[in-house]
Parts: sequence; structure tokens; C-alpha cells
Amino acid sequence: MPDQAHRLRTLIKNTCNQPAFCTAGPRIIAVTSGKGGVGKTSLVVNLGLVLARQARRVLLFDADLGLANIEVLLGITPPYTLYEFLYGRKGIEEIVCPGPYGLQIISGGSGMQELANLDTTQRQRVLELLPYLRTRTDFLLVDTGAGISRTVLGFVAAAEEVIVVITPEPTSLTDAYGLLKILARFKVHSEARLVVNRARDEKDARQAAHKLQLVCDKFLGFRLGYLGTIVEDHVVREAVKEQRPFVLSQPYSTAARSLSQIARCLIDGKEPAPKAAERFLDRLLRLFG
Ligand SMILES: Nc1ncnc2c1ncn2[C@@H]1O[C@H](COP(=O)(O)OP(=O)(O)OP(=O)(O)O)[C@@H](O)[C@H]1O
Ligand SMILES: [Mg+2]
Repeated sequence: MPDQAHRLRTLIKNTCNQPAFCTAGPRIIAVTSGKGGVGKTSLVVNLGLVLARQARRVLLFDADLGLANIEVLLGITPPYTLYEFLYGRKGIEEIVCPGPYGLQIISGGSGMQELANLDTTQRQRVLELLPYLRTRTDFLLVDTGAGISRTVLGFVAAAEEVIVVITPEPTSLTDAYGLLKILARFKVHSEARLVVNRARDEKDARQAAHKLQLVCDKFLGFRLGYLGTIVEDHVVREAVKEQRPFVLSQPYSTAARSLSQIARCLIDGKEPAPKAAERFLDRLLRLFG
């Protein structure tokens, strides 16, 4: 849409002309899976907290349709969601809910359904997220929900980086392969990184990762990197019940140490892609518009 492209260019130009706005912008990472219930939300929340504890400015976006899982794991209730922002009833600052260590949380809420039918005013509102992303966030972690719905694929396609969560079970591997096949076939991404959750041990996780990496490489020409493992640990289940993330309640647990390792690996050697935020919003508007 030329109108939209023009508005985006103008906004980017104006934004970049202000010195305070000339940061690299955030790394935008979609966390997804083929099969549901494998630990995406738990990873997003706890990884977000580890990064925030290291003074990174982290924004979590709950893009899981109807299921406000991030809120549940953190034991918070954001008063507003993306919906109020899209309809101009609330500003960005008002829909961002604060969490521990300065963690920032936006709930998609009923705004997620609206993404499919944005009018011109709401598209403009989406573009108005740009200054916030560029100046207030180092990491945007998007919890996409499971499967291959339009919403999931839209957010995965819009993000710069993708983390795929699996467990070592065969069903999780086959469902992840189904998802990766779509990403490869439609050239949405040519690489992603794996987190193996609920593994017995590192060896169990590496074996599962290796199986999936082999088929992705051989049949899809898709590079599947290995980001890390989280072992099966009772503290994760307890943390869910207590609505207090395990990296806070059990910082010396095996699961919490795994998260620190994953955060290190995520940070290591990777810089934010230039104009990641602009591309993210532009793609979202194209994919959902
Ligand atoms: N490493 C782990 N050890 C033990 N239990 C775990 C672990 N990871 C996740 N779980 C359990 O699995 C449940 C589901 O995790 P989570 O909600 O993060 O999955 P999800 O992939 O986000 O699910 P959905 O697809 O429904 O959004 C948690 O409530 C927790 O009880
Ligand atoms: Mg979830």
C-alpha cells in the first residue's frame, strides 16, 4: 500500500533525525512451536527476566490468541491490552505493564483478533509503536502460541529471529518439522534456533535436536541452530502454580541455570539487525492487512 509505505518512511525519517532515537533498535525474536504445551511461555517469561536482570530492556508481547499465559505465569493482570491501543483509547505507555527488573509486558488480548481487520487509523497506530521499539527496548520476545495458524505464522514471519521450542517426544519433533517445512517452503526464514525443553539430560536433548537438525538440513535446506536445553525440573511446575517465575523463586535450580546459559548463548556474537523494528511493523501490517 503506497500510502502506508510513505507514512512508514516519513515516520522512520523523523524518528531517526532525533539523536536519542539513533539506537540500533531491538532484537525481535518470535518464540514458537509445532506442538502446544511444550514450554514456550515459560521460556519467554524466564528468559525475559534473565535478560532484564542483566539490565537489558526487555518487552514481552503475548501474541497467543485468547490465552493470556504470560500474565498467568507472572501473576499480573495488565489493565489494558493492544486492543485499547489500536482504538486510540490508551497510549503505548499505558498498555505496557511493568514486571520485575523493569520487564515490560504487552498483552495482545482481544486486540489480536483486530489485527486481521485494521483500518487506516489503526494501521497508523501500529506504526506509532516504532519510536517505543527503537528507543525503549533491546529485546522484543513474542510468545506466538503453537501451530501453523495465520496469527502464529504472521508473527514468526515478521520477527527477525525465531526460536523453536521442542520436547524430546516424537510428536513434538514431527509437529516442529511441519512448522519448519512451511517456513522453508514459503521462504519465510532460512534459519531458526532450537530450545529443547523437558529433557532428561543434555544428552537426551542433543539427540532430539540432532534428529530434527538432520532432517531439516537434508530435506528442507533449513539451518536449525541449537540454543540450549532446559531439563525436566519440578521447580518449573511449582513456579506455574505459584505464579512466580522459577528464575526468581528458585534461582539456583537446574532449570534457572539452563536459562542463564540460554541467555548467554542468545546474546553471544549477535547484534540487532539494522532497522529490525521498522521491518517488523511493516511486515506485520502487510501480513495481517
Ligand atoms: N522444564 C520443565 N520441567 C517441568 N515442567 C515443565 C517444564 N517446562 C514446562 N513445563 C510444564 O509444562 C506446562 C506448559 O508450559 P507452557 O505454558 O510454557 O507451554 P506453552 O508451549 O506455552 O503452551 P501453549 O502452547 O499452550 O501456549 C507448564 O505449565 C509446566 O507445568
Ligand atoms: Mg503458551
